[in-house]
Amino acid sequence: MSLCLRGFYTFGQVRGHSPASTQNSLGKITSTTVRDSFNDSNVVMHYTRAAHQLGLWASERLLIERWFPDRSAPLMELGCGAGRVTFGLWDLGYQDLTAVDFAEDLLDQARSLAALRATDRIRFLHADATQLNRCHLLNDKGSGPRNGRPADVGGRLCDQPDGKRFAGALFMFNGLMQIPGRENRRRALREIRAACQPGARFLFTTHDRDDDPRERRRWAAEAGRWARGEPDPRLVEFGDRYFANEHGGHTFMHLPIRNEVLEDLAVTGWVVLFDAMRRTVAPESAAVREFSDECRFWLAQWE
Ligand SMILES: C[S@@+](CC[C@H](N)C(=O)[O-])C[C@H]1O[C@@H](n2cnc3c(N)ncnc32)[C@H](O)[C@@H]1O
Repeated sequence: MSLCLRGFYTFGQVRGHSPASTQNSLGKITSTTVRDSFNDSNVVMHYTRAAHQLGLWASERLLIERWFPDRSAPLMELGCGAGRVTFGLWDLGYQDLTAVDFAEDLLDQARSLAALRATDRIRFLHADATQLNRCHLLNDKGSGPRNGRPADVGGRLCDQPDGKRFAGALFMFNGLMQIPGRENRRRALREIRAACQPGARFLFTTHDRDDDPRERRRWAAEAGRWARGEPDPRLVEFGDRYFANEHGGHTFMHLPIRNEVLEDLAVTGWVVLFDAMRRTVAPESAAVREFSDECRFWLAQWE
């Protein structure tokens, strides 16, 4: 599932419907809607292919190496999917990695890829970023969470064997913005901070709905729908998009403006050190641009 939003607008009129069971009683998109969309077999295949073939974007690599110079520091990668970024980090020499996702089937792929590469030093955790205190350690050699869920380790994510907290966190390719509801995204920002040590850095990306003039016109039309009380009833708030992907399913994404992210970081105890649109960071290959569209990088620090 490419997260290129071009051509997949479902503002107002929505093509198709996801199963009602993945939405709440008001019919709104929930974290279950999102998790189910990532466990879809075509989507799993898409991200698995990216983990095997695409690897880190040039911009990701540049910023990771700039802002996380210590390759031995414990890092937590949220929304690891099938491991595209996880194995990119591993290949760059980062040795103390904990990879987290809430989509069981993607995690299974990441663990298989780790086995294929004979890498058993990466910790894989099944957890929702908004509830990092409820995580399942998946490093056991047994089957994945679907076929025999491993015992809940019962501790907080930061309860690593030696009690140390993470020196850095990453939530790449817009995963934070796939959490429906601003309060939930703020909860995730607080949880990530709680799992980190003072001074820790946090790298993530979002879209920026103010960046492109054509997009701004579409958002103005969408604002009119909200003002008239006619938005897609499944959307949680203005800025949400629920669009048909090329795999016959739907993808949820919240597209913020820059000030919104600045506010969310400020109220959750993060200070922004850097933010920039991807095109200003590094040119990307055609394959990367096909996989992902323009985004804003954010580098924040534990205050
Ligand atoms: C766009 S995909 C990126 C996957 C991978 N990082 C990559 O770049 O190929 C976003 C990932 O975030 C995960 N994700 C979304 N919301 C999450 C949440 N609340 N908790 C944990 N993972 C989440 C999804 O399951 C998915 O794997």
